[in-house]
Amino acid sequence: MKRDADDRSLYETIFRRRDTRGEFTGEPIPAEVLRRVLSAAHAAPSVGLSQPWDFVVVSDMDLRKKFREHVLAEREVFEGGLDAERARVFAPIKIEGIVASSAGIVVGYDPSRGAPDVLGRHAIADAGLYSVCLAIQNLWLAATAEGLGVGWVSFYREEYLRELVALPEHVRPVAWLCVGPVRDLPTVPDLERHGWRERLPLDAVLHYDQYSK
Ligand SMILES: Cc1cc2nc3c(=O)[nH]c(=O)nc-3n(C[C@H](O)[C@H](O)[C@H](O)COP(=O)(O)O)c2cc1C
Repeated sequence: MKRDADDRSLYETIFRRRDTRGEFTGEPIPAEVLRRVLSAAHAAPSVGLSQPWDFVVVSDMDLRKKFREHVLAEREVFEGGLDAERARVFAPIKIEGIVASSAGIVVGYDPSRGAPDVLGRHAIADAGLYSVCLAIQNLWLAATAEGLGVGWVSFYREEYLRELVALPEHVRPVAWLCVGPVRDLPTVPDLERHGWRERLPLDAVLHYDQYSK
């Protein structure tokens, strides 16, 4: 099979992608770059071509500060459930770059889009949610190719974020993504660097014909 420079750069982007928290410069994202990144997200596959995603770009600093306060409170909730040793490892780990990044992008899931006849979702309701996650991954890779960092924040209560950015009742918030120019992308994930957890070898998760230990 033929491989060309585009293939190599795709793999290079996949392996260079990093969850970013502490590396944001806060510089603005050029409008055309943001548009390209969002277009890449919107080009994702989706069950029944339902395209069940929505993107809310949050620049407003007051909204971002409010969200950060909520996230830090949820961090404490998580921390409170850890034993002393895990709490010690967790303490220096940053979990967000909400104010330091250039913008937040809230990604929502609208299960009503294309409903009721969503082709391929009749047996697996989650297929809609999977589609939204693919849009997020497209966004993440496109942003990486553009030299931007992306950090996924999930330390929040869905109801809080829905109200903060005025999502309608039927749209489920799936992610707050911190996006913006970065000084660099670390080669090692933060969680590995801090000794929280390591990436498994591929063979630990690879099975043939039937699941095997
Ligand atoms: C669904 C999801 C939720 C995540 N939530 C957070 C989060 O709240 N805070 C954070 O710092 N990183 C979060 N991450 C990033 C992961 O910690 C990160 O992807 C993982 O440690 C591997 O690092 P890498 O993305 O740099 O390869 C999340 C990632 C995913 C896919």
